[in-house]
Amino acid sequence: MTSPVLVTGGAGFIGCNLADRLAQEGHDVLVLDALARPGVEQNLRWLQRRHPGRVSARIADIRDEDAVAEAVADARAVFHLAGQVAVTTSMTDPRTDFDVNLRGTFLLLDALRRRGDAVPLVFASTNKVYGDLQDVRLERHGERYLPADAALRESGVGEARPLDFHTPYGCSKGAADQYVLDFARSFGLPATVLRMSCIYGPHQMGTEDQGWVAHFLIRALKGEAITVYGDGCQVRDVLHVADAVEAYLRAWRRIGEVAGRALNLGGGPANAVSLREVIAHIDALTGRPVTVGYDAWRAGDQRWYVSDTRAVTQALGLDAPRSWRAGIADLAAWLGARASVEAA
Ligand SMILES: NC(=O)c1ccc[n+]([C@@H]2O[C@H](COP(=O)([O-])OP(=O)(O)OC[C@H]3O[C@@H](n4cnc5c(N)ncnc54)[C@H](O)[C@@H]3O)[C@@H](O)[C@H]2O)c1
Repeated sequence: MTSPVLVTGGAGFIGCNLADRLAQEGHDVLVLDALARPGVEQNLRWLQRRHPGRVSARIADIRDEDAVAEAVADARAVFHLAGQVAVTTSMTDPRTDFDVNLRGTFLLLDALRRRGDAVPLVFASTNKVYGDLQDVRLERHGERYLPADAALRESGVGEARPLDFHTPYGCSKGAADQYVLDFARSFGLPATVLRMSCIYGPHQMGTEDQGWVAHFLIRALKGEAITVYGDGCQVRDVLHVADAVEAYLRAWRRIGEVAGRALNLGGGPANAVSLREVIAHIDALTGRPVTVGYDAWRAGDQRWYVSDTRAVTQALGLDAPRSWRAGIADLAAWLGARASVEAA
């Protein structure tokens, strides 16, 4: 095996899509994952079946200092995606959230620092670093909220927006995001941060707590009801995982230009969509309306969040992402095909 690319959280949704692409491009890949998320062992099996001998796995916790140091030892690049991913879980167990997301990231950074030979690192951060955007005045237009401010409505939230960590998840990811940027500044680590909005696509084990696009589709395809927290008019800019993976790879290739920078990565204003609009699209795709129940808003939930993707597009030379309608249809087809294999 040549010097591998390390993907922490490589059994997870984004991680396995990234590992798959890396292996397709001829890289040896080392996945470090605790298999903490139910179902992700299927992703790992899929990866290893597709790329025999190319993808190896270290089943270990990101908080295991020795395992992390070993995994980092001869990595040629590191993509850090392992994490506690749900805001809801961070509210019930803030200690684990802190430990995994902040201490785990610190251990990884410190192992890289001690290696001392400038290994590129790309970190999966989140739009939650900008808080719940309570100060943004919103108007309701049909089935969605939109900012009253025309410039914000057209361009989305840029990287100059002040940080404002809300919820333990926002704090742990936000602090980790700052540590990554500081290790670039203080120790010259070639490290960059991608602050992601909602990513969706194949291999997402979407649940009510995280991965709502896949969760809605899975429920709809099974004929089960969906609970929407809030009024469903909240807006997100959704991005297909293939486009996210492209950005991760380019961030590595262009690490000299983007080291020390944080970039917002999402579908941008062209793919800004409300939960209700996604549900209507799912109804059209499945040919029957899904039953929707409504419950109270959840902590820190942004009524509107859309990434300003101009900086990431320019810095990484990205093409326009696939449209949300086509992307969700693609995910529905993938889920349908998987369900028929399981039923066979
Ligand atoms: N999916 C999104 O829309 C989105 C948006 C913003 C940020 N992110 C970030 O991107 C990363 C990947 O998210 P995802 O959607 O692929 O989630 P995911 O849950 O599918 O993947 C995370 C992986 O990390 C692993 N993991 C969890 N705890 C671990 C631990 N203690 N040690 C080692 N591995 C552990 C899980 O088993 C899982 O395979 C996360 O860091 C998440 O915070 C995701």
